[in-house]
Amino acid sequence: MCGIFGYTGFRRLGPIILEGLKRLEYRGYDSAGVAFISSGLQVMKDAGKIDEISRKFNFSGIDGKLAISHTRWATHGAVTQTNAHPHISCNGRIAVVHNGIIENYIDLKRELISLGHKFRSETDTEVIPHLIEEFYRKTGDPLKAIFMAVSKLDGSFAFLAIFEDHPDRIFAVRYKSPLVIGLGDGENFVASDVPAFLKYTKKVIFLDDMEVAVISRDSVEVFNSLTREKVDKEIYIVPWSVEDAERGGYPHFMMKEIMEQRFTITRVLGQDDRIREASQLIKDAQKVFLVAAGTSYHACLASSYWFAEIAGVNARAVLASEFPSISKLVDDKSLVIAVSQSGETADVLESVRMAKKRGSKILGIVNVVGSSLMRISDAFLTINAGPEICVLATKSYTSQLAILYLLVNDLVGRLENAKEEIKRAETLVAHMLESEALLKDIRRIAKDLSASEHIFLIGRGISYATSLEGALKIKEVSYIHAEGFAGGELKHGTLALIEEGTPCIAIVPEDETKDQTLGNAMEIKARGGYIIGLSNEEHVVFDELIRTPSETSLSPIVMIIPLQLLAYYLALERGCNVDQPRNLAKSVTVL
Ligand code: AGP
Repeated sequence: MCGIFGYTGFRRLGPIILEGLKRLEYRGYDSAGVAFISSGLQVMKDAGKIDEISRKFNFSGIDGKLAISHTRWATHGAVTQTNAHPHISCNGRIAVVHNGIIENYIDLKRELISLGHKFRSETDTEVIPHLIEEFYRKTGDPLKAIFMAVSKLDGSFAFLAIFEDHPDRIFAVRYKSPLVIGLGDGENFVASDVPAFLKYTKKVIFLDDMEVAVISRDSVEVFNSLTREKVDKEIYIVPWSVEDAERGGYPHFMMKEIMEQRFTITRVLGQDDRIREASQLIKDAQKVFLVAAGTSYHACLASSYWFAEIAGVNARAVLASEFPSISKLVDDKSLVIAVSQSGETADVLESVRMAKKRGSKILGIVNVVGSSLMRISDAFLTINAGPEICVLATKSYTSQLAILYLLVNDLVGRLENAKEEIKRAETLVAHMLESEALLKDIRRIAKDLSASEHIFLIGRGISYATSLEGALKIKEVSYIHAEGFAGGELKHGTLALIEEGTPCIAIVPEDETKDQTLGNAMEIKARGGYIIGLSNEEHVVFDELIRTPSETSLSPIVMIIPLQLLAYYLALERGCNVDQPRNLAKSVTVL
């Protein structure tokens, strides 16, 4: 959940490093720093936003042969200057930036201290430069020292290391946290994610677990750190443009990515062969598990209703963090459908590794081409939504729903019908997003609700998943406590929370749940609740109506749009940081 970025080449270091860090800021933004070699190894770092630190140290003025840098989401150690990365060895001649968690750092730190090493920070990361220093002192060989240090580490780590004695090389190591190398002409990049260098190259190498890369401006060599042998790596061409990763004139990435849903939903089309291969995996399986986290889990939960209602398949949606507790159900006749926008979520990857060990097949559904999940799956589908920079998942959610809908319908020979329904859903989404009246209405309702302490959402059937996703959007960007409930559950306790004026959003698509959800809304209203209806028609129970198209088969796609917009406008009304909400990061790459 941090961003690391390294560069070696002919360009001035400062601007490149600053730009790379800014493009990774969505991965973590509580402190930042850079280490570079220019008449010796130098480190500049502090707590705070990248822009503040850059001004303080004049990052743009940095020059030299190479640099590594870091933007932090704190896991071990408070947000302080000392705990910011890079971290250095005792002699200050080795610097490291790291994304992940070193789980055995306490034992390692104790061992290193007994060998005379002096630690400066509270972080787990700092054991890495001291370990490398210890082995470098013994071997005099930086690559060997790295191999030996890696063999001592437990946990997850993607780290970059530079040595003052070797000012032309960046060493990059990857284990369970993402790391991608950008191949340039007379220059090379290495980062946690592609947007950091997409402006300069689309040619990339994705490092795999336990691989070490030695990167100079004119060469990249990759080694397996267990065998210490060189490995040949496939070069991918990333299918994204720089504009995709830019804000494109929108005030926030969140609004840009909400608006992109006018044309991203149908980008799941065009992979019929892969869909058929995936369907066959489902048909061959005796048990099907849908595994994901956060918003991706809500897409899984919604699709589990389609699996049941359309295909008669019992596909169980499981939170990735809860998967270990039910993993005994998984066997060699199971299929795990793992859904992840980033393809790097640690909970999901850990679940997939556990399922593979139990003989299960894996179908990965990802947005990021070349991501870890894509590469460890037996088969994969891509949602092709383009880079999603905002911490909040919006366009990836509707595209995940779309690809899952195609998959379910292919099971019953309705792939072509489903494609037409997806196109229609995208058209309905586009009409909503282009409706000034709708945006104005939602903005007004956001203003009215902005001082609320609680907001409840109710839905039944597949709209229960929509209520959970809508609540997550509101919570994570406006910091208002929001909860989604199955409408039928209210009477079993939650109704006690309803007071005079408690706002409740009733999700009422034109489907079999409509009348019962309206009934639940009446129960809330009878106790003083303030009802905001998401529906295609007025109803006496609604105090406010957000009019939605009358769409049934793809209501989870259509009904989430107003809720994404409501969350966005609530955040604006409350002065929240829309693209970088407090305490969060875009890709949760630690368990
Ligand atoms: C969604 O708005 C959140 N940012 C978060 O819940 C996210 O969906 C979750 O971390 C899963 O991410 P993934 O799809 O990349 O695995």
